[in-house]
Amino acid sequence: MRLDVVTLFPDWFDWFASQRHVVNALAVGHELRTLDLREHTPLSGGQVDDTPFGGGAGMVLRVDVMDAALRAHYGVDPVDLRRQRRVIALTPGGRLLDDRLVDELAQEPGITLLCGRYEGFDERIVEHFASDAVSIGEYVLAGGELAAMVVCDAVMRKLPGALGHKDSASEESFSPALEGAPEYPHYTRPAVWRGHSAPAVLLSGNHARVREWRREESGRRGAERLEPPDDGR
Ligand code: ADE
Repeated sequence: MRLDVVTLFPDWFDWFASQRHVVNALAVGHELRTLDLREHTPLSGGQVDDTPFGGGAGMVLRVDVMDAALRAHYGVDPVDLRRQRRVIALTPGGRLLDDRLVDELAQEPGITLLCGRYEGFDERIVEHFASDAVSIGEYVLAGGELAAMVVCDAVMRKLPGALGHKDSASEESFSPALEGAPEYPHYTRPAVWRGHSAPAVLLSGNHARVREWRREESGRRGAERLEPPDDGR
């Protein structure tokens, strides 16, 4: 898979690219690249944003700047790019990222992630360049970079070869293997810590009982998932 991130802060991704599962994924041929939005801006002084029409606080990322960056990198008219690959605008109002969407994205041969900054994007970026708008939660970040890293992290760990154990990403929280429920709890040594024991079944060596216990615990956690407190919002 080829993951491209269009950002004003490409070096933020240097740290991310040094994480073990990312290093593993890159070692087996997957790619993570950053495109610097400022590099191809047609405006003077490296300008990339502007004040919002109609007034209001903050600055808005310009559509002509995104147009120039995508055109320079892909060599096609950016309005046609989304027919070739998923182009995802990261924005708080987008489709909420969940395990299903991560699985869907992990099947793609190439994804481009567009990071907004300041007050976000000129809406024409979302309308004309993006195939999808994705949010990592109902709160507002200062920009799309951390959201893009979350998407890259969740997607890359699903790629074959990224995790050490071949099953690590199949039977985990919210996966079809657990019928969408959170994962069962894990324990390791010491078996007893300050009088608190790990569940005896996990120490029993009975694999069938362990499987059954894990399935039950996962289902119980799913049923008990806390509703957020009702504060009238
Ligand atoms: N940009 C700012 N906030 C965001 C969020 N919650 N999800 C995705 N992109 C964002």
